[in-house]
Amino acid sequence: MEVRVLDTSDEMGQAAAELFAQRIEGKPDVVLGLATGSTPLKMYDALVRLYEQGKLDFSHVVSFNLDEYVGLPTNHDQGYRYFMDKNLFDKVNIAKENTHLPDGMASDLAAMCAAYEEAIKDAGGIDIQLLGIGGNGHVAFNEPGSGKESRTRVVDLTSETIRDNSRFFKDESEVPRQAVTMGIGSMMEAREIVLIADGADKAEAIAKALEGEITAAVPASFLREHPNCTFLLEREAASRLSPGALESGYGAGWGTIGVSNPRHPSRGGLNFVLRFSGRKPK
Ligand code: PGA
Repeated sequence: MEVRVLDTSDEMGQAAAELFAQRIEGKPDVVLGLATGSTPLKMYDALVRLYEQGKLDFSHVVSFNLDEYVGLPTNHDQGYRYFMDKNLFDKVNIAKENTHLPDGMASDLAAMCAAYEEAIKDAGGIDIQLLGIGGNGHVAFNEPGSGKESRTRVVDLTSETIRDNSRFFKDESEVPRQAVTMGIGSMMEAREIVLIADGADKAEAIAKALEGEITAAVPASFLREHPNCTFLLEREAASRLSPGALESGYGAGWGTIGVSNPRHPSRGGLNFVLRFSGRKPK
């Protein structure tokens, strides 16, 4: 587990883009797991810039998105296919047939979910999975209560998520009540996971995910059990991490340090590395 705290959300987006760019360079037919929401926008912008500069080739890249609302027509401007086309796919040379999102309009949603999992397997599995985090600790649409073994399925959105996402719709009543999401079990099969978060409204969820119990009440906490997971945090999003961990970071100067989780000092797997850059968080 590695946690990097970056000074600004621009730097967070840049760091995430650099990681993804390295994986694309290292394996031109890499299978990416992608996410929507406001947090990934800076990363997608940075990837588009690298493509425009001739530094990145998406022609063999394959992608699978995490989730999609149920019942929004494919071309709806709040649908996730529309989001991905607009913010990434239409701006780079990825082959559209290599890009996959769950179909929230499928007449048999359960069959579509099973086929989605199969398609990921057939593609060889996800090499690197991008995740955001909800204010309630959700990852993709795995709301609190989602189990570690959960698979791609239809879920009911919590009132908190409906409220959070209503900023993208005319009003809250327009936000779909259900979504299709990859499960925790599905995403934990990715070879590498990168979670990005910015803003103070993510700080509590981040603190619980990294330093609280590993529990379905905070689905992002399960990521601590993944063998190759990095959290890239803008400093406000990191501001509720325990003072002990953060202060030892400051005391050591800016750089990379190993920190054991004070609540679970004996559990080696829970140790994480904090890397700081830029100014000290407030
Ligand atoms: P956001 O959403 O990037 O729009 O904050 C993240 C999430 O809810 O997973």
